[in-house]
Amino acid sequence: MKIAIMGAMREEIEPILNTLGEYTSEEYAGNVFYRAEYAGHELVIAYSKIGKVFSAITASIMLERYGAKALLFSGVAGGISKDLKIGDLIMASALCQHDVDITAFGHPDGFIPESSVMIQSDDDLRSLASEIAVDMGIDLYEGIIATGDQFVASSERKSWIEKTFHADALEMEGASVACACHSFGVPFFVLRAISDTADGSADIDFDVFLQSSAQVSAKFILEMVKRLGD
Ligand code: ADE
Repeated sequence: MKIAIMGAMREEIEPILNTLGEYTSEEYAGNVFYRAEYAGHELVIAYSKIGKVFSAITASIMLERYGAKALLFSGVAGGISKDLKIGDLIMASALCQHDVDITAFGHPDGFIPESSVMIQSDDDLRSLASEIAVDMGIDLYEGIIATGDQFVASSERKSWIEKTFHADALEMEGASVACACHSFGVPFFVLRAISDTADGSADIDFDVFLQSSAQVSAKFILEMVKRLGD
């Protein structure tokens, strides 16, 4: 199967490229798309740059130009749930955009007309991930991930996102990738390892834990690729 593996930052896909060792690369639309064969699958791998706009562009290219039939996102997130510690893994059951606000017109936070507040990720990919977590003896958390074009480093903002969307983690690309995949009818999976807890010390923790947490997520994603059918 043709599978897209995406991150937002170089650090999020580097562990994957390092494991693969051999790959080709091509520049297109301001990104580099890496291609490799792994476990009988054709992979296209890229990091988009941070945020909803760049990530939606990159995801769309992976689906349309490279013909990916599934997209797996790997990266880091700020933890909201008290159960999530730095380094823990969370897979998104559903994703929302916490910074969408047309409440002035009576719509709920995060709602875009003709769309929905939440976009669900693929059931089969989540089931596969749960099986792998059991086999590997890893605690894999499942919950709502809230996305926005903001690095959240404030307890107030974090609490608002938790209260409004019942979100367990937050980041800056998942929901936009979900929108792209949903629009094209391609199954997707968003996995994040916690790098910080989105409060006053988030910027410091993020810098310290970005690489190690990105590595945890990338390792799991490659395990999923190994176990994906044709
Ligand atoms: N990704 C990782 N940590 C984050 C945070 N605190 N805010 C937004 N995106 C993040």
